[in-house]
Amino acid sequence: MNTLPCPRPQGSLGHLPRWYAEPLSLLQEGAALAGERRLFGLQLGVGAVVGFSPEWNKKLLTDLDTFRSAGSLSRLVPHLSGGVILTDAPEHSGRRRTLNPGFTLSKMEQLVDTLRGAMPSLPPQFDALAWADWAVMRLLNAAYFSGEFNGDLLHRFLSPLRRPFPAPMSPQPLTRRQVDAEVYRVGRLRTGTPRPDILTFLLGVEGGLTEARISLAAAHDTTTHALAYALWYAARYAQWHTPEHHPALLKEVLRLYPPGWMGSRRVSRDLVWEGVHIPRGTLALYSPYLSGRDPYLWERPADFQPARWAHKPPAWAYLPFGGGERTCLGMHLAQTLILMVLGQTAPLQLRWGNPAPQPGLTLGPVGPLWLEHMRDLKYD
Ligand code: HEM
Repeated sequence: MNTLPCPRPQGSLGHLPRWYAEPLSLLQEGAALAGERRLFGLQLGVGAVVGFSPEWNKKLLTDLDTFRSAGSLSRLVPHLSGGVILTDAPEHSGRRRTLNPGFTLSKMEQLVDTLRGAMPSLPPQFDALAWADWAVMRLLNAAYFSGEFNGDLLHRFLSPLRRPFPAPMSPQPLTRRQVDAEVYRVGRLRTGTPRPDILTFLLGVEGGLTEARISLAAAHDTTTHALAYALWYAARYAQWHTPEHHPALLKEVLRLYPPGWMGSRRVSRDLVWEGVHIPRGTLALYSPYLSGRDPYLWERPADFQPARWAHKPPAWAYLPFGGGERTCLGMHLAQTLILMVLGQTAPLQLRWGNPAPQPGLTLGPVGPLWLEHMRDLKYD
């Protein structure tokens, strides 16, 4: 049986200190050691295996009996507990079948006018990261609740998720109860006068109000970070800031800076993968960040080249929204929202900032990202 390569551990703490202090450099070191098999080990309090080949991604994302959410790292984030995100097979597929119809592309396209009406204006100079944080909150409020949710409460609920650990682990029991009460209050406003929003759909689903709270938590910082990077790159590569080029620009942003930089599962049975024995209980990780930058899969992977999207990427190589049955429920919502904002944004100019990726619960730029909005100019 083969053994796994692994970066040098730090005594009895294994890789935990580096995992918290500099996880991207730890991942990159592991990836460099992993070679063609694209598999390496880490000690994160429990034994962990990180894989980033398309074959590993497919196995982890489709064998839901073996790769379980129970015991994964998402369990550490109380905001995510109690809904579809942490539901395992066999119940998961039924739950998704119930939720999917409320989040289809055509449903999200019906929300575009609502989103457009809720988009805050862009000041002449702005920090794209701070603006995206605020704008996404408003836009989600519009998409979910027709803007009727208490904005201060929404901010209090969602803002810890964008702070470094341990803030995302804070249970916030009082805030969560207030959020549930507010979802319920807004839901009651729907009686007799349905609005064309996501809450109207979720009201018809058993446990739908809980799913509203949990999916909002999954939606906010991911979409904020993707939008902030998209605005930065729209300024830096102005030739790609046109409505017909925005989809490729966004794909390329998500390849290089997938907010979900790392996904985790627990292995429910002993298995052998590529000649390596992986015992039951191992933490199994896949990494959209490493797969999106893998030189075996992408030509000049570090370069920002939206033109590469003229061709389909290799299967199971591009996973900013995960894959398989557990593909992100809000994929169409996030893309619709970001493309709407880009479409409403006049040419931009780069001022200054720090776009280096910083992993927390999700990956985002260190920031700030100062841009100038050339309101008097139109697209060519
Ligand atoms: C650019 C924005 C977003 C990115 C990059 C993103 C990324 C992801 C990824 C990678 C997963 C799979 C996690 C895993 O396999 O462990 C996921 C799952 C999920 N996402 Fe998103 N997400 C985004 C926006 C949203 C939005 C707007 C919503 C709102 C509905 C949402 C709700 C969810 C839910 C509920 C799941 C769990 C699905 C399941 O387990 O069946 N996400 N997301």
